This record gives sequence, structure tokens and C-alpha cells, in this order.
Amino acid sequence: WYKTVRDTRGMPWRRPYDANLGPEERAQRAYEVWISEIMLQQTQVATVIPYYNRWMLKFPTIRDLAEATIDEVNALWKGLGYYSRASRLLAGAQKAVKQYGAKLPDNAKDMEANIPGIGRYSAGAICSIAYGEQVPVLDGNVHRLLSRFLALHAPPKAKSTLDVLWAGARTMVEIDNVPNGAQAGVESLDSGPQSPQYAGDINQALIELGSTVCKVREPNCDSCPLQLWCSAYQNSKLTAEEKSNRI
Ligand code: ADE
Repeated sequence: WYKTVRDTRGMPWRRPYDANLGPEERAQRAYEVWISEIMLQQTQVATVIPYYNRWMLKFPTIRDLAEATIDEVNALWKGLGYYSRASRLLAGAQKAVKQYGAKLPDNAKDMEANIPGIGRYSAGAICSIAYGEQVPVLDGNVHRLLSRFLALHAPPKAKSTLDVLWAGARTMVEIDNVPNGAQAGVESLDSGPQSPQYAGDINQALIELGSTVCKVREPNCDSCPLQLWCSAYQNSKLTAEEKSNRI
């Protein structure tokens, strides 16, 4: 179901995962995905693309960024808003150069703990996409998508709810441990080959479906590759009588 993200739709940071990349190339990918993910917070894909391209021309590596001044960084950020994102990118690059040999940490736990501006979501996105690490992502859109998928009836911000959703998101990236997605008595979510190398695809598909298909007011269920397994969709097909019998 997640293979739709192989279509880059003009996103320059979206490149196929390559298990054969060496540590240097992988670190470079992580740098690129980091910049894209921070820009994509609060900003639409179409707006981000030209900013991302200008950024990569000016700061092609994390070292180039670390050597920049805040004025240079802010000038490239002009128009994107939320300037604290740009200053945290600079601080993060400087820390990576000083303490980690000019690389972002190579796993989500260390990245979240040590790089300014990288929280659980960003660490999950960067490490799954660049390193193939099987770590989950949960942003506002994936929160809504998974709440519907699981037909979760619970206060959205409660810790217990967030724990369930993070666990659900983790299940989505780890599902490849089950041959063909199939498990005794559980219908397959997917018919394709799955392995850690798909962690980034799975997370990007969740992020993208959450923002473009499973929208707040108009979930476009007929365009959703998860329709067959979605509890909210299944419930929407119940008759009024069936619904009232369930309460
Ligand atoms: N929004 C945040 N991360 C994204 C990604 N990798 N692809 C598309 N939209 C995104």
C-alpha cells in the first residue's frame, strides 16, 4: 500500500532507499532529509521545494551550514516563517560538526537526545528515510489517520492515546517482520516484499496520506490504499440500525 511514495512528485529530497550506500553517503542523505523535514513543519510541500533547492545550493553539506552566519541562514529562510526553525538548524549543524564528526547521529534515539530542534517525529522521519531504521513517525496528520484506522475513541491529547498511536505507528513500520505482512488469522496489509529498507517509504506514505487523502473534513477513502483495513471506513458502511445496535 505504501509504494505510491516511490513517485517523487517533484520532491528533490525523495530518493529511493539504497541499502548499499556507505556511511558518508548515508550521512549526506540524513542531512538532506533533515533540512526537508524541518522546512516541511508548518509549510506545504509546493512552497518548500524552491527553498530547499536554494538551501542545498548554498549549503550543500552540514559543514557548509555549520560555517554559516545566522544572517545568511535567515536570508535563505525569508518567507518561510517560524525563524526559530532556521536558528535550530544552524545550532544543530554546529553541534554535529563539533561533537559527531560532521554527521548527524546514526540512530533516532541519539538524534532526538542530542540535536537541537529534532524531536521524536523528526528523528523518526530522518532515520527511517535516510538510514532505514524501523522507527515510527506521528505528526498531526498521521495522528488523525491512525485514529481513524484504529477507530480510536479517546481524548486525542491524552498520554494513553498518544502511547497507543505511537505504538500503532511503530507497528506500521515493523510489519515487515511478518512474512508478506500475513499472520495467522490476520489479513495481509500488503502483498509486496517488506524489509527494513521500506521503513522510510512506509512513514512517508503515512505522512503523505495523512496530509493529502485522510483530511480533516473530507477523508477521500476511495483514493486511500489503506481503505480495506481501515476501521473508520468499515464503520461508515454500517446501516443506521447496525450502528444503534452497537451502542
Ligand atoms: N511532510 C513531511 N515530511 C514529508 C515527506 N517526506 N514527504 C511529503 N510530505 C512530507
